[in-house]
Amino acid sequence: MGSDSVNILFASGNTHKVSEASNFLKQFGFNVSQLLIGGKPPDLIEPQAELLEEIVQSKISQARELVSGTKMEEYPIMVEDSGLFIDHLAGFPGPYSSFVETKIGLDGILRLMEGVSNREAHYRASLGVYISGSMIFSEGTCRGKISNKAAGNNGFGYDPIFIPHELNGRTCGQLTPDEKSLISHRGKALKEVSKLLNLPSK
Ligand code: IMP
Repeated sequence: MGSDSVNILFASGNTHKVSEASNFLKQFGFNVSQLLIGGKPPDLIEPQAELLEEIVQSKISQARELVSGTKMEEYPIMVEDSGLFIDHLAGFPGPYSSFVETKIGLDGILRLMEGVSNREAHYRASLGVYISGSMIFSEGTCRGKISNKAAGNNGFGYDPIFIPHELNGRTCGQLTPDEKSLISHRGKALKEVSKLLNLPSK
């Protein structure tokens, strides 16, 4: 870690998200690591809120309480909440994406979309960073469509069935991590955060 890099603790149990953020923010001088309490990512309660921002706000408060009084207290804390929103399903699974993924999986979504011609969808990420007594929020959106079948083993979650409009017909599961970060909801939200934190890109 360079002396001019900034350490950020990412409060998430999802190691895919942590490594996407860590790889992406390296170039802006951030050193992102997973927040661990007693060697484990803390179980932050996810409020059943419709707005991703509300979820982020609540998780930041919970994470701050957990580091309060420890030597981690001085580090910025990052929290992110994201989801897949499918037009034909009125935005489902949206804030419930993680739960739906474990319950019905990608096959379940493909079944719900069988014979549907409007396959438009988007990923959205809300990101919050608590730093030096202030909160910074950013959002990123990635528009695309739901594929007819799963393809690719990269990424995580719904990536094998999500085809971003910005690339030529491949699912996110078929993109390299760098390709995905350039166009993804998370990459866009992270880029915005790096600007708001005013660190020059290297
Ligand atoms: P969270 O941990 O509540 O924010 O859940 C986010 C869920 O949305 C994940 O578990 C995935 O199901 C889905 N998701 C969010 N971002 C992505 C992504 O970049 N690729 C694939 N699925 C994603």
